[in-house]
Amino acid sequence: MKNILEAKFLKEFCATASNMYRLGWDERNGGNISYLLKEEELKDYLDLDHVERKIPFMGVKETAFDASFLEGKIFLVTGTGRYFKNVEGDPENNLGIVRIGKGGKDLDLLWGFADGGRPTSEFPAHMMSHMARLKTDPENRVVMHTHPTNLLAMTYVHELDSAKFTHTLWEMSTECVVVFPDGVEVLPWMLCGTNEIGVATSQKMMQSRVVIWSMHGIYGAGRTLDETFGFIVTVEEAAQIYMLTSHLPRKNTITDAQLKELADFFGVQVKEGIIG
Ligand code: 13P
Ligand code: ZN
Repeated sequence: MKNILEAKFLKEFCATASNMYRLGWDERNGGNISYLLKEEELKDYLDLDHVERKIPFMGVKETAFDASFLEGKIFLVTGTGRYFKNVEGDPENNLGIVRIGKGGKDLDLLWGFADGGRPTSEFPAHMMSHMARLKTDPENRVVMHTHPTNLLAMTYVHELDSAKFTHTLWEMSTECVVVFPDGVEVLPWMLCGTNEIGVATSQKMMQSRVVIWSMHGIYGAGRTLDETFGFIVTVEEAAQIYMLTSHLPRKNTITDAQLKELADFFGVQVKEGIIG
């Protein structure tokens, strides 16, 4: 077997966690990432028949949570209570590779969480988001949650209406409408780590790859770590421009006609009902 610490997917995952930490979004244990792995990219590194231990799901009601759609799927995931700051230096304790067990009822730990850890407390919201995205885009592999500073600030001062929030973000930078033409969906403040926030997030994920948890953070989904990180960075930068300018007299803006011109030129299908 090859050394899994040398695997491209693991190195890229660690580098992403470090980037997010350095951007100041993942204070303490803030943030979590899950990455759907393919058996063929794992088979040179792990004996997939060897289960280190079984891990029950946490924070979900058996009757309300059904991950059977993901049975047998394997995820690389950050541990609960673990600091992104420490992931790159010590992946084996801070990360785990888990397989969704029979009927989607529990997890097989295949690697990692060596000091007794377990997946993020947000694992149910991640799994429900993966299910929602896979139904929309079978190539989706990543779900990422983090606490970007300016976006959080914006949720304190901007209306929490998804269409209005999206319009404001699109106005903040020329690239926004091209990078996230399906806009953002905004959830009100909800208790995190619960079935309820998982269900609400996954319903929003059917419509958009970016879901905002007001006064908490952001969920992004995408085909690759780079793509998902890219959505979040772009949204956060737009939020930063909003927070730098919203208290100043506005002299210029990107008009709806220009947003439409951008969408037409770059050939993206924008979410209905946002551009007037
Ligand atoms: P975990 O440490 O359980 O991943 O939780 C971090 C977080 O951001 C909760 O929303
Ligand atoms: Zn969080």
